[in-house]
Amino acid sequence: MSDQFSKKDEAWSARFSEPVSDLVKRYTASVFFDHRLAEVDIQGSLAHAEMLAHQKIISAQDYADIQRGMAHLQSEIATGQFEWLLDLEDVHLNIEKRLTELVGDAGKRLHTGRSRNDQVATDIRLYLRSAIDDIVGLLKQLQWALLDLAEKHTHTIMPGFTHMQVAQPVTFGHHMLAYVEMFNRDTERMRDCRKRVNRLPLGAAALAGTTFPIDRQRVARTLGFEEVCQNSLDAVSDRDFAIEFCAAGALIMTHVSRLSEELVIWMSPRVGFIDIADRFCTGSSIMPQKKNPDVPELARGKTGRVNGHLMALLTLMKGQPLAYNKDNQEDKEPLFDTVDTLIDTLRIFADMAGGISVKAEPMRAAALQGYATATDLADYLVKKGLPFRDAHEAVAMAVRACEQKSCDLSELPIAALQEFSPLIDEEVYSVLTLEGSVAARHHLGGTAPAQVSEAIKIARARLK
Ligand code: ARG
Repeated sequence: MSDQFSKKDEAWSARFSEPVSDLVKRYTASVFFDHRLAEVDIQGSLAHAEMLAHQKIISAQDYADIQRGMAHLQSEIATGQFEWLLDLEDVHLNIEKRLTELVGDAGKRLHTGRSRNDQVATDIRLYLRSAIDDIVGLLKQLQWALLDLAEKHTHTIMPGFTHMQVAQPVTFGHHMLAYVEMFNRDTERMRDCRKRVNRLPLGAAALAGTTFPIDRQRVARTLGFEEVCQNSLDAVSDRDFAIEFCAAGALIMTHVSRLSEELVIWMSPRVGFIDIADRFCTGSSIMPQKKNPDVPELARGKTGRVNGHLMALLTLMKGQPLAYNKDNQEDKEPLFDTVDTLIDTLRIFADMAGGISVKAEPMRAAALQGYATATDLADYLVKKGLPFRDAHEAVAMAVRACEQKSCDLSELPIAALQEFSPLIDEEVYSVLTLEGSVAARHHLGGTAPAQVSEAIKIARARLK
C-alpha cells in the first residue's frame, strides 16, 4: 500500500484548498480491507456500463474500451500486480483510476449515473450472495457428515440429559439428528435471507436517483438480482440485509458452539464418550499426556466474535438518518470476518464429524448409572391402570431404595419391586432395560432405532 500523497489522485480534489492529513487519510480509507470486493465491483461496473451503452448514454466504443480495460485490470489483480493506493481511499476509486489510466476517457465515463453509494451497496450484496451460497453448501456437507455418523449409531445407547443430569436413555444417532435439525433450519434462514440480499441498489446513485435514462431492470437481470430496490434513499443507506445475515450466522455459530461444548465434555477423560481424530487436536507444551480438543474449543470461542459482529452492525445502523452515511463503511470488516469465520468453521466441522469415534461401552455404562429407565417404570404402571402421579411416586420410592442398596432398578428382585406396587410382574424387566426403553419411544421424532433410521432417510432426501 503506497503512502505517498498525490493531490491529482483524489476524485473530489478540485473542491478542496488543502490536502487531507495523512492521519485522516488513513482513518477514512477502506482500501486495506475493501479491496476484496474487487471482483464484484468489476462485475457491477461491467453490468452498469453495458446498460449505459444499451441506453446510448455512453457509446458502444466506450463500453468496449471499458470491457478491455477491466479484463486487463482483472488479470493485474489476479497476478498481484495491481497496486492498491491508500490515496485513492477505497476499492472503487482505485479501480476507476486504473481503468482510466488504461483506457482514457471511457474510464471516466463509467461513473455516469452512478455513485459510490449505490455501487458499494451493490458490491456487498453480490459478495454476500455468493458467500451465502458457499455457506449453504457447507451446511449441507456438515449435515451429510452428521447423518453418516448418526447412521453408524442408530443403536448406540447413551444417557440423555436434562440439567446435565442423566434423564432417559437415547441413541447417539438420535442425538446427532438433533444437530441436523438445527443446521437444517440454519440453511432455511440463510436461503430466506438471500432473497432480501438479492436486490439491486444500483440506479439509486448518491441518494435520489439519476437524471440519465437508465434501465435498472436490465442491470438486475445481468447481475442475477431477483428484484430491484424500490426506493433510492433506502437502497443506498440500509444494511439490514447484512444484519440479517449476521444474525443467521450467529445462530449457526451458536449451534456449532453447543455441539462443541458437548464434544469437549464427551472427550474429557472423566466422561470418555468419544475420541476426536488427532488431526483436530493439539498437545500441551508442558504436559506430555495431553490431547486437547482445540477445534471445538476455538469454535465455541469464535461464536463470541460472530455475536459481536452482529451487535456491531446493529449499533452501526441504529443512529443513521437517511440516506448514506460514511458510518456504513464500517460494515465491511465485521461482515467479512463473519463470512470467513463461518466458512472455516463449517468446513472444519464437516470434516471433523468423520473423525469422531464413539466409545459405546462408556456411554452405555453412564446410561445405566442414573436410573435412566425410571420413567419407563412409571409408564409401565400407568399402562396397568395406576394414575401417573401415583406411578411417579411409587417409582421415586423404588429409586430411593436402589440408592440405598447402590443398585439399578433392573437389579431389584421382583419381590422387592412389588413392594412399591402390586401391579408389577416379571415382564417389568423388559421395560427396565436400556434397549427396551429406547425401542419403546417409537413415534415420529422419538429415539427408537427404527425411528432414527427413518429420520435419517427423510433428512437425506431433504438435502438432495
Ligand atoms: N468506501 C465507501 C463505503 O464503504 C464507499 C462509499 C463512499 N461514498 C461516499 N460518498 N463517501 O461505504
